[in-house]
Amino acid sequence: MSSHRLCVIEGDGIGKEVVPAAVAVLRAVLPGLQVIPAEAGWECFQKHGVSVPQVTLQTIRDCGAAIFGAVQSPARKVEGYRSAIITMRQSLDLYANIRPVKSLPRLSPRQDIDMIIVRENTEGMYSGREHMDGETAIAERVITRYASTRIGEKAVELLKAGNRTKLSIIHKANIMPLTDGLFRDSVRDVVARFRTEQDTWAVEEILVDTAANKVISEPEKLDVMVTTNLFGDILSDEAAFWAGGMGMAASINLGRDVAVAEPVHGSAPDIAGKGIANPIAAILSAGLLLRYQWNLPAEALRVEQAVYGALESGLPVIDGRIAAGTSTETITRSILDRLD
Ligand code: NAI
Ligand code: MG
Repeated sequence: MSSHRLCVIEGDGIGKEVVPAAVAVLRAVLPGLQVIPAEAGWECFQKHGVSVPQVTLQTIRDCGAAIFGAVQSPARKVEGYRSAIITMRQSLDLYANIRPVKSLPRLSPRQDIDMIIVRENTEGMYSGREHMDGETAIAERVITRYASTRIGEKAVELLKAGNRTKLSIIHKANIMPLTDGLFRDSVRDVVARFRTEQDTWAVEEILVDTAANKVISEPEKLDVMVTTNLFGDILSDEAAFWAGGMGMAASINLGRDVAVAEPVHGSAPDIAGKGIANPIAAILSAGLLLRYQWNLPAEALRVEQAVYGALESGLPVIDGRIAAGTSTETITRSILDRLD
């Protein structure tokens, strides 16, 4: 029996449909998993006046692991509303956002892609420091040695643990010599500290615009990529194209002793409540909890292989969506059948 505890936050829209699917898959590989539900998101804000209640943050801390569906954000500025995911990332110091992009059987246009984007998750353009100066709007891009060093360390840790072959440091230090210069130098220092004589992995530096091109032109050559917050956000959505699109893209936010897994997609109001959301992004995100937070690589592999196996045998998924006439439930069932 498992002693693992999971805080489950369905959130808004299709979060309520895809998260239960992911929890069912986790229960199949971790019998006895304890599940503690909690609230966050827009509906939660409307009910309680806060997008992430203190009790939710405490439950995540107590469990050490959470899965989060999606939030719907109000289209206009709402007094007192703060983005739920940004609140969680900052309150729990979830400093690393990990987004693997791997070719999927049948769905991916190219079959040899296997990269991990390691994105700094707490600062950069997401510092929240914006102000107006007359008719000029100013955003402050905050880069610290501390945050750049720890994201560099996380990238090297994943590279070594996964027996990977190359680290790409992605920046724009030619144009932003102070901020991205500090980021680049901090990661270089990490590499100098951790790379031993025996290590065979390569290190390269790529300017972010060139990196955007490489994600399209030669994705097979990319392996572990480490970068700042906004660059990582954009490159990972771009790269997700290769792995079946947004309905398939998984991510995990890692802190020191706590992790929040979340599918990359949003609340999808256009299809919410219809039982037709693709649960695979959420299921693969649950797999990332097994791999990166609970250190259960065999169980993580079981989940991935169940998804890949179901896709290979013709699971009706097209462009990240599930085909007409099928449902979240049937897709989940065919993945669960492979875990019995
Ligand atoms: P979205 O990801 O919710 O939807 C974009 C398109 O992809 C829609 O046509 C949707 O139906 C489709 N889609 C997304 N996930 C799917 C799935 N699992 N299965 C099948 N189709 C899927 O992004 P959008 O429309 O830009 O935003 C909707 C709401 O979600 C907004 O309020 C936005 O702020 C929020 N959002 C939240 C995110 C989060 O919680 N991390 C991330 C992105 C958006
Ligand atoms: Mg994004």
